[in-house]
Amino acid sequence: MSLTASEARWRDAFEGSIKNFLQGYPQGSADELYDPIHYLISLGGKRIRPILALAACEAEGGQLEAAMPVAMAVELFHNFTLMHDDIMDEAPLRRGRPTVHTKWSENVAILSGDVMYTLAMTALEGTPSSALKEVLRQFNETSKEVCEGQQSDMAFEVRDNVTVDEYLKMIRLKTSVLLAASAAMGASAAGASPERVEAWYQYGVNVGLAFQIQDDFLDTFGESDSTGKQVGGDILSDKKTLLWLTTQAHPAGREALAPWLGIHPASGSEQGEAKISAVRAAMIATGADAEAQRRMSQHIEEAISALGKLKLSPETASWFEGLARHVVSRSH
Ligand code: IPE
Ligand code: IPE
Ligand code: MG
Ligand code: MG
Ligand code: MG
Repeated sequence: MSLTASEARWRDAFEGSIKNFLQGYPQGSADELYDPIHYLISLGGKRIRPILALAACEAEGGQLEAAMPVAMAVELFHNFTLMHDDIMDEAPLRRGRPTVHTKWSENVAILSGDVMYTLAMTALEGTPSSALKEVLRQFNETSKEVCEGQQSDMAFEVRDNVTVDEYLKMIRLKTSVLLAASAAMGASAAGASPERVEAWYQYGVNVGLAFQIQDDFLDTFGESDSTGKQVGGDILSDKKTLLWLTTQAHPAGREALAPWLGIHPASGSEQGEAKISAVRAAMIATGADAEAQRRMSQHIEEAISALGKLKLSPETASWFEGLARHVVSRSH
């Protein structure tokens, strides 16, 4: 069976399993606790984390079912972080629809997010007992790191001396470790050796770094119709993206950014549009967009080199390489 056919099989199996799992927490059963979870999960998304877990498990010779608990747990955890992230980022749109806190309320989004974290742990309980201890360790370490990264992301909004190294550490924590752990835990569920689990982790970390740089790129230069999110939100809130840092490192860029620092116009307002177009122009003029592309290519090469250590079949290696390359060419 070709790997493209496998991908369809992974997607179908995942959608079936998560739907079945959530039937244990029916809509309307606890007022507004579970409805937002059904809402957000049913809006889909790319499902890159569960697919990575299932794909790594099969690449290690495991059965798909062994990694399904991990696949559900990483997607539930990811959606929990999105529900809270959208409150923190004051984001109006997610997956083309109103965010949970705008459709319901912030209180609802906080508690539904919290319980979604618990559901992730519940899903994880189904991991084969031979892998459970290692999977739990990896999952808990990763959850803690994501919170650390998210905290830095927020703290950086009000700093203007963030370095590129600090940015890379922040995105590794808030985003990359979850992609890395998805692949690593999928491999663990298949019984892979610690050395192989580590190579999967390295692959995932580098895919994840490129993934977040592209996420930042699309927030500034993408189309809301494709991303399903508001465009320009990072600029409005002074997020310290690689685009922003590269622009600031340039004297002309620094001059262009200065009048807007600490100014947070409402999205859609005349001043908001002026800030977005001025900052975007400065980013292009300083070559920040090209620098982001260069960094992403570097991480994709590193991901591919980690794959090399796994000595997969050419067909399997080429699917994982294709996934890594897709991450930086995607428009959503
Ligand atoms: C968005 O993640 C949050 C980031 C870590 C950048 P995705 O881009 O994977 O979101 P969905 O799940 O596909 O909607
Ligand atoms: C989100 O980063 C990372 C986490 C959810 C922890 P972003 O804030 O850039 O994600 P989007 O752009 O809202 O999806
Ligand atoms: Mg955020
Ligand atoms: Mg956000
Ligand atoms: Mg973003």
